[in-house]
Amino acid sequence: MPATVVIGAQWGDEGKGKIIDLLSASSDMIVRFQGGDNAGHTVVFDGKEFILHLIPSGILHKGKICVIGNGVVVNPKALLEEIKVLKSKNIGVEGRFFISTLCHIIFPYHSKLDELKEEKSAKGKIGTTKKGIGPCYADKAARSGIRLADLLDDAAFREKLKKNIDEKNEILAKVYGFSGFSFDDIYNEYCVYREEIKKYAADTISLINNSLNNSKKVLLEGAQGTFLDVDFGTYPYVTSSSATAGGACIGCGISPSRINKVVGVVKAYTTRVGEGPFPTEFSDDLMTKIRSKGKEFGATTGRPRRCGWFDAALVRHAAILNDLKEVVVTKLDVLDDLDKINICVGYEYKGKKLEGFPASSEILSAIKPVYKEYPGWKCDISNIKKYADLPKNAKNYLNKISELIGTKIALVSVGSDRNQTFKVK
Ligand code: GDP
Ligand code: IMO
Ligand code: MG
Repeated sequence: MPATVVIGAQWGDEGKGKIIDLLSASSDMIVRFQGGDNAGHTVVFDGKEFILHLIPSGILHKGKICVIGNGVVVNPKALLEEIKVLKSKNIGVEGRFFISTLCHIIFPYHSKLDELKEEKSAKGKIGTTKKGIGPCYADKAARSGIRLADLLDDAAFREKLKKNIDEKNEILAKVYGFSGFSFDDIYNEYCVYREEIKKYAADTISLINNSLNNSKKVLLEGAQGTFLDVDFGTYPYVTSSSATAGGACIGCGISPSRINKVVGVVKAYTTRVGEGPFPTEFSDDLMTKIRSKGKEFGATTGRPRRCGWFDAALVRHAAILNDLKEVVVTKLDVLDDLDKINICVGYEYKGKKLEGFPASSEILSAIKPVYKEYPGWKCDISNIKKYADLPKNAKNYLNKISELIGTKIALVSVGSDRNQTFKVK
């Protein structure tokens, strides 16, 4: 049975958590393939809200197997906290939750370096979550990272941690004037984590590939979004992993031949958290209105999200990058009160139409969005249960989005609850 990938087609927070939770009902295994606890995926049902950072959103469905793939960077403290919160809400993970032994581990020096680098670069800061994601992936690429397999082997762990702390302390002192970390403190803290997480450590490559061989349905959960991808995003205002569909194979150890479907999740408007270009960003009035109606505050850091019109030029590029055959449009209800709604249909640069999507963030900051205006529907759609019952102007808006991005819309979401979703006929 082939695998399905779910990715964000904008700058994250598109509602992936909600959609992965929905699709998990008909899946056997759900695998996170990149990112770390910078992600915040919200799922709402029966009046309860769950925010997952590391564990796949499928965990809320009894009996589903959930896996953290090798492409994820894991902060054990955050992970154990998440397991504790789930247990307190009667969601058990034992026997159905596994972490790849190839995952790289986040240490306090990663978060500190992330924080200090941001503080030092007053101009040009990224606006990271300060979770140590970038420095941990940097160590992975520099071949000095520490993986879960190392943490499980005490001698290897001691040696690698010592080497890392010596090096990081020197950088922290010389570049940032920070006093540094004690080997004993971190070693002792992580030995406690090791005892708690070793039962979840697994050869997830065999686990996932065997499941596919046995005709199990595997859902691959992306974090962040296409324009936060380290290669294809609005570099350098991106995260440090591959958040596009291509990252799914690398991040869980399966061949591209295993994947037959990529589902993109898009918000009916656009948001981004942190710094970086945002062509369709609202001015103050609309910003406050939509942020408040859409409750646009970061699920991980609580930061207010920047909001703007739907950018079809952006999502069209995401559709190409991820070969999207279908998208799910979320948060359509947030636009309920607007008289007129704009869609950005393309960009102009230096007075001329810009073909394709610019490689440079400098150009993206300088382009002028070209808008088309559509009438709003001016009524509450959050209780609508089927596509046919949507107001004409809402259907028209969806049709325009679909036409402009060149992709079919499979599902529409009109509220945060599991039930507030319907198929598009
Ligand atoms: P993710 O990171 O892509 O999983 O998205 P987040 O969970 O960070 O942010 C999406 C937010 O929108 C969450 O608070 C969801 O509960 C909420 N949400 C999802 N779908 C809808 C929707 O259709 N309408 C409304 N009003 N809220 C939604
Ligand atoms: P989910 O999975 C939105 C953003 C940060 C910052 C940039 C780099 O919930 O969609 P990092 O800490 O990763 O080095 O920060 O990426 N960012 C997100 N924005 N949703 C996320 O995850 C994000 N994860 C990281 O705000 O701009
Ligand atoms: Mg989020």
